[in-house]
Amino acid sequence: MKLTAEEQAMLAGGAGLATQKAMQIIVALAEIYEAAALVPVASAQIAGISYKNLGGAGLEFLEEWAAQGARVRVPAFMNPAGMDLQRWREMGIAPEFARQQQRVIAALITMGVESTCTCTPYLVGHAPRPGEHLAWSESSAVSYANSVLGARSNREGGPSALAAAITGRTAAYGLHLTENRRATHLVEVHCGLRNEADYGALGYLVGRQVGDGVPYFRFLQETRFLQEDGFLTRRENLMALGAAMGASGAVALYHIEGVTPEAAAALAPLRAFGGPQSAVPVPSAPLPAIVIDTLAEAYAALDSPLDEIDFVSLGCPHSTLADIERVAQLLEGKRVKATLWVTTSRGVQQVAEQQGLVARIEASGARVFADTCLVVAPVEEMGFKAMATNSAKAAFYAPMHSGLQRRFGTLEQCIAAALTGRWTGRRESGPC
Ligand code: F3S
Repeated sequence: MKLTAEEQAMLAGGAGLATQKAMQIIVALAEIYEAAALVPVASAQIAGISYKNLGGAGLEFLEEWAAQGARVRVPAFMNPAGMDLQRWREMGIAPEFARQQQRVIAALITMGVESTCTCTPYLVGHAPRPGEHLAWSESSAVSYANSVLGARSNREGGPSALAAAITGRTAAYGLHLTENRRATHLVEVHCGLRNEADYGALGYLVGRQVGDGVPYFRFLQETRFLQEDGFLTRRENLMALGAAMGASGAVALYHIEGVTPEAAAALAPLRAFGGPQSAVPVPSAPLPAIVIDTLAEAYAALDSPLDEIDFVSLGCPHSTLADIERVAQLLEGKRVKATLWVTTSRGVQQVAEQQGLVARIEASGARVFADTCLVVAPVEEMGFKAMATNSAKAAFYAPMHSGLQRRFGTLEQCIAAALTGRWTGRRESGPC
């Protein structure tokens, strides 16, 4: 493997012990994946920072690295933590957990990592430019950055993303290389997708089948949602699709014909997303084809047979301002019976607060929490039993990560469940 003089110096300890340790991690990964070189990264997103996942050993590792002088040399920001850093008491977080979580955040801040605590950094000032190399580690963020924004990132582990932030480099393999960004599967979707839950259900099905492949979607049916807001599809639908494929499979890049920047798409959608024409050709050889003509199997797999709902979770991936507005409208003048959390980034939460949306939502008894989400917060200790969510990713992970049974449906169905404490959601009849 070829290292530049600067990289060799870092590896030899010329930039200090902490940087040497980071470079050792990067070089070890490069050797495992047989990378020919390293590549400079524009930013790093560090996942796995919830104390729930990290535990005491992980915390000590971070504090030791920070004490050794580890400092990031490119913009680096955090994935969600195990709690709202300001309102953790309202979430029902134990003081001891909060203390340890704050130590994790403090160690990362010492290293220069921004406490954005979100899986949607691209919504709060950290959108990468097309073609930029990144070391991001949360799967839905990686998927969005690669697929919708045209940047280049593998799905890094938390420590390797931090090592990339400290060295400014990552190993040049996988999705950093043009040839690996070609589609591996053609997915023909014969359903008219109606909302974010349908996109999540589709993602669940496709992720299961393609694993870590690169699906190329052709939507062949009614495209009502594909014309909304001047975008070919709502941003929230793409977030739901990518998040689900990263959960049921390990998809880190997908293409949608006529929509995403590397799908050799028409110019209008490229302009809408601000992306360039791709250097990656549409595959010419026949690809393994997947035909989706029903989402019923996904809805069946992600839905437990529950009537009573005591917890509703919205905001996986973290809610956009548009979704928070929808929630505020649906809750106007009403009271929730079940606990309802809307989780979002601190940046979006602050804007929502300025616009009066948080106050309108919270007047109903619901809460808008920042910095965290249901999967990385210790909700299993909060006594909830039955959850409703509009996120296929959250529905996929809830039983194993949070010990919760769940209902999966649209945002409107979830709000109805929060208001009544019961799940009455039925899927609209239609082609899927
Ligand atoms: Fe984000 Fe948590 Fe979902 S990190 S994608 S809100 S599981």
